[in-house]
Formats: sequence, structure tokens, C-alpha cells
Amino acid sequence: MRIEEIELHTAPDEFIERYLDFQELIHNSYYSTDIQQERETRRVNIRLPPSKKYTKNYFAFENEEIIGQGNFTYQLNENETNPDHAEIYIEIHPDHLHQGYSKKLLKLLAKEALENKKSKIETYSRSDLNSEVVTEYINKLGGKRTQIERQNRLYKETVNWDYINDTKNKYQEIENNFQFVRMDKHSRHQRIVEDDAFTAENADFYTSTVNLIPREDSSRDDEVITAKDVKERAELGLKSSWNSDFYYLMEGDKIIGFSGLHYPNEDPVKWAGTGLTAVRKEYQGRGIASFLKVKVTEYMFKTFPELVYINTENNNTNQAMIHINEKLGYKEIYQWWIFEIPLEGIQAFLQQN
Ligand SMILES: CC(C)(COP(=O)(O)OP(=O)(O)OC[C@H]1O[C@@H](n2cnc3c(N)ncnc32)[C@H](O)[C@@H]1OP(=O)(O)O)[C@@H](O)C(=O)NCCC(=O)NCCS
Repeated sequence: MRIEEIELHTAPDEFIERYLDFQELIHNSYYSTDIQQERETRRVNIRLPPSKKYTKNYFAFENEEIIGQGNFTYQLNENETNPDHAEIYIEIHPDHLHQGYSKKLLKLLAKEALENKKSKIETYSRSDLNSEVVTEYINKLGGKRTQIERQNRLYKETVNWDYINDTKNKYQEIENNFQFVRMDKHSRHQRIVEDDAFTAENADFYTSTVNLIPREDSSRDDEVITAKDVKERAELGLKSSWNSDFYYLMEGDKIIGFSGLHYPNEDPVKWAGTGLTAVRKEYQGRGIASFLKVKVTEYMFKTFPELVYINTENNNTNQAMIHINEKLGYKEIYQWWIFEIPLEGIQAFLQQN
């Protein structure tokens, strides 16, 4: 057994192909109900140099075969409001479980946490896999579950078209009172480059709304999103092998509501994931988020006839968002359990082992 740190965006092509094979094996073993991105989509994104966040990858090998990986990820933002947070994630080949690889990888990730002065380590686990075992292990390290994210999914067959069609009249009023604008990643990037006021308005809108998303027991502080962040994210989006659509509801120059969506740049488009949906606090409760979600859902299923599903993740206590999604036909398929381990737990773990 050998463990090696390998920087993916500069790794030789030959290694990337082996890594893509490993991803496929992990996908088929653990995530077979999800549609996997095509090889080329993943290849392009793997080759992007680190921009907004940095991931250190450790790989475990058995006779040159990749049989596990451990990732350590943190944000590179200068204005990061949670500089003490980092994320770890470990995946092991199903034929090599319970052979001590997880623990060896965890040890390396724990050392990274200490060296990079990250005192709050987050990780996550899927409720339908081995979450009970993960919970027990993390509790022993002094950590705890801090949040539950529901993975909700809208299959083509379960879209509530009656609801969508019935509410169109109701939403006519919103369309009369405000301006609805849809942009793809290229037209939005162009606007951001040319229009500083629009960029600043995006930064203000995100900062005012993302922090309203419930975070339960997470120790994360409120984020501040600057105009520079908005520009950098838009540039990164252009290089990515994913498409993004941005649905704005504007009152003059003011963004009052927003819904975003991402899908692989593949033909046909088989699945998509939602990004942020949010409405400025003073405009909430007037049907604006429901209107935007109806628009997004209708556009996606009508534009891409082979679209199988749209995914969304909602905090388990976000009643308004869950309610809107349920009306559209979304169903929970599993939950992501999010954990936090404090530095002391990491230090104790390193001393014991
Ligand atoms: C979630 C959010 C987008 C909703 O925006 P909104 O414009 O107020 O939503 P709408 O007015 O279209 O609809 C709200 C619906 O939720 C319902 N709702 C509100 N609070 C609820 C609660 N505690 N329990 C159950 N339903 C609730 C409303 O009754 C309404 O349903 P109805 O149309 O059947 O009456 C808004 O609260 C927000 O921006 N939150 C912060 C960002 C966020 O959490 N985004 C989601 C991230 S996954």
C-alpha cells in the first residue's frame, strides 16, 4: 500500500484517465441512482487550476491501482469570513473497505488541518450509505452532526404540470410589476464586464440573501460577497464544462429575486442541479420564489426533452423552500449529514494513532 499526494490539474494525462476510471467505479458502487457526468465534462473541470478554492488530493494505491482518495479543501478568498474552516472527504474502493485505508488517509488530512491552521473540519455523509458508522466515529473525535441537507429531486415523470399551469395566471401579476430576465453564463459574464452597477448589485443581493439560508448548528459566520468575487466566479464559470442559467427578477436596477441552475455541457442534457434561489427579505412571502422556480422548471423540461431530473439541496429546516419544491413535485431521495470536528479532536486523533 502506498499513499501519494497528487495535484490533479497538473497530473500526467495517463494518471487522469486512471482517476476517471476510479471515479466511475466509485460512482457505480455508491451513487448508481445519480446520472454521472461524461468523462470529458469531468476531464475539463479536473484540469482547471485552483481559483476560488484549493483541494489537496491524496491517493491510496494497491499494486498501482487507485483504491482510495482523501481530499482536503479550503477557500482561497482574501475576504473569506470562515478562514478557520476546511472540508475533508474520503472515498474507498468497495473491495478495499475495512483495511485501514480510511484511517491512514484521515491522518494525512488531519495533519493538513494542523499545518494550514484550520480549526473546524467539516465532512459529510449520505444518510442511505454508512452515516451511522460515520456519526459514531466523528462523535469519538469530539465532533458532531451540525446540519442536515435534504437531497430533493424532481423527475420528469413527477413534475406537477397542473400546479405550473394553474399558477401562471397568478404569476402574471409578478411579470407585470417586475422585469424577468434570463441570462446564460456568457451573456451574464458580458454584462458583469460592462456594467459595474449590475456587478455591485449582484454582490449586494448575494450577501443579503445567502446568509438567510438556515445553517442549524454550523459554526460558520455570515459570508460577504464582493463585486470582485462576482467577477471571479463569472470568469471561472466561463472556463468550466458546466452551463449555468441565471433567472433574475428586477425592479428597475434592483435585483429582488434570483434562481440559478447548472447542468453539464453535454448533448443531450440529462440532468441539472439548482444553485441559489433567493428573494430579498422585504419582498418575501409574495410568491416570487415560487414564480422563479416555476419558470426554471418549465424552461428546463421544455428546452431539454431528454432531461431526466433536476436536483436540489435544501437545509432540512428551510420550510419555505421545501414547501415550494414539494409543490413542484420534488421528492427527498436521501439526506446529506454534515459534521464538524474541532481542532482538539483532530489533535487527539493524531496523538492516538
Ligand atoms: C426560501 C425563499 C427563497 C422563499 O421566497 P418567497 O418569495 O418568500 O417564497 P414564496 O412567497 O414564493 O413562497 C413561500 C411559500 O412557502 C410557504 N412557507 C413560508 N414559510 C413556511 C413555513 N415555515 N412552513 C411551511 N411553508 C412555509 C409559504 O406559505 C408559501 O407557500 P404558498 O405559496 O403555498 O402559500 C426566501 O425565504 C429566501 O430567499 N430565503 C433565503 C435564501 C434561501 O434559503 N434559499 C434557499 C436555499 S436552498
